[in-house]
Amino acid sequence: MNEFTPIVQGSAASFAIPAGVFAQTVTAVEHFTDRLFKFRITRPASFRFRSGEFVMIGLPNAEKPVYRAYSIASPSWDEEIEFYSIKVPGGPLTGHLQKIKAGDTVLMRKKPTGTLVNDALLPGKRLYMFSTGTGIAPFASLIRDPDTYDKFDEVILTHTCREVNELKYGQQLVAECLEDPLVGEFATGRLRHYTSVTREAYPFTGRITDLMASGKLFEDLGVAPISPETDRGMICGSMAMLNDTKATLEGFGLVEGANNKPATFVVERAFVD
Ligand code: A2P
Repeated sequence: MNEFTPIVQGSAASFAIPAGVFAQTVTAVEHFTDRLFKFRITRPASFRFRSGEFVMIGLPNAEKPVYRAYSIASPSWDEEIEFYSIKVPGGPLTGHLQKIKAGDTVLMRKKPTGTLVNDALLPGKRLYMFSTGTGIAPFASLIRDPDTYDKFDEVILTHTCREVNELKYGQQLVAECLEDPLVGEFATGRLRHYTSVTREAYPFTGRITDLMASGKLFEDLGVAPISPETDRGMICGSMAMLNDTKATLEGFGLVEGANNKPATFVVERAFVD
């Protein structure tokens, strides 16, 4: 069988879609800063994923498309697929992706995967989601999934960025989640959003690792320090942030889990950087 099936007749050009890839249409794009934007695409009817997973995406305009791993930011019940992205000037994918508009085509490989899923954690009372920068994306999916609230009484989403304006996506996300007709009633009173900034003045400043080491995070939230009896963690950020946050959680007695071996915390890199 031919590896390429010509399907899409675009207005400018027609191109072949590689086997194992969906070609989807961009439905909305929103730019938050000159470095950050979100976009939504149509969802193929046959595409299934677990909230928190990632998928490879690319653009059809190159002879050989460049694919990058992107966490799906929308929940598994959503009719569309949302992504939250950084813009890297001259970046092989994001250099082009940042220019997409509604109606454009995005390629998405068919197989989602990932460890930031509820199944990889043992049940607990409170779930912490630790994120920096675009690492908030998988949690944008999970906080909008009713299953998360079935499994945990309380969900604490922490988001740390260099600058205040980089918190915007998360602030809008949480506000919309609380108003959402499907998830709002689960999230209200149980989803807490803790934001901090490291390179500007803001009511809460400092890296999440330092805020845990000093105990300030727990004081600010009015909760006891993390304990393996009650607390679970998910981490998504840069490699350095993952390593340091993982060490902090291990210091509290939590143990890293995986899909085939659920435990008390899980880790995934925020890929595009
Ligand atoms: P800082 O400004 O002190 O570097 P980045 O864009 O580099 O991924 O950073 C996003 C956020 O993550 C920043 O607030 C940054 O703080 C913080 N950060 C960077 N490295 C670490 C780390 N090793 N542990 C915890 N937070 C980190």
